[in-house]
Amino acid sequence: MRTKAVAGLLVLAVAAMAGGAAGYAALGDLQFERKQADGEGSESITPSIFPHWVHRTRYRCYVCHPTLFAMELGATPITMDAIGKGQYCGACHNGRIAFDVDFATCARCHRELEE
Ligand code: HEC
Ligand code: HEC
Ligand code: HEC
Repeated sequence: MRTKAVAGLLVLAVAAMAGGAAGYAALGDLQFERKQADGEGSESITPSIFPHWVHRTRYRCYVCHPTLFAMELGATPITMDAIGKGQYCGACHNGRIAFDVDFATCARCHRELEE
């Protein structure tokens, strides 16, 4: 029993350390659900993630809430069109403040959250 509990804690500690570097999901990281119809040829792209912690180490809550995003997963009508116009994620993901939206970066947002 005791050994098992200690081993469990170790696993948690290692996961927590890896979190920053390797991009494991941290508590509060989100996976969107697809709401908009997929565009031509992109039917199977995984919905986007939103890694809260990566952002929260850089910005206070009010940078995003409530102006850019509601505080409720799925409540904000985010689309690629809007992002391309500089709204929502596109307020920063424009190649100046954070990485741009292009075919080299789709999978940085569109992927499964790692456990
Ligand atoms: C860089 C932008 C950004 C920052 C900074 C940020 N958030 Fe968020 N937050 C989001 C986005 C995007 C969502 C998802 C909104 C949606 O789907 O409509 C979200 C959702 C949430 C949710 C709802 C989660 C759920 O499962 O429904 C809570 C609660 C929340 N944020 C709290 C916070 C708090 C507290 C802080 C500061 C400590 C913070 N956020 C900082 C972007 C941000
Ligand atoms: C900065 C993060 C980010 C990048 C980079 C990004 N997306 Fe998205 N994308 C989102 C978010 C957030 C949504 C809304 C939630 C969802 O449906 O996944 C979205 C939605 C979508 C949708 C649903 C329909 C629509 O138009 O809204 C498609 C299809 C899509 N993205 C394709 C792509 C492709 C292809 C690329 C690369 C050229 C890309 N995305 C790059 C964040 C991103
Ligand atoms: C207030 C500015 C801001 C907003 C709004 C914002 N981001 Fe970011 N994001 C950043 C910065 C800065 C970084 C780190 C620098 C970089 O990677 O270019 C980052 C990094 C990321 C990363 C990479 C995380 C990693 O593991 O390295 C993803 C994925 C991401 N953002 C997705 C999103 C999505 C999806 C949205 C909209 C729902 C969004 N961001 C909105 C500023 C923002």
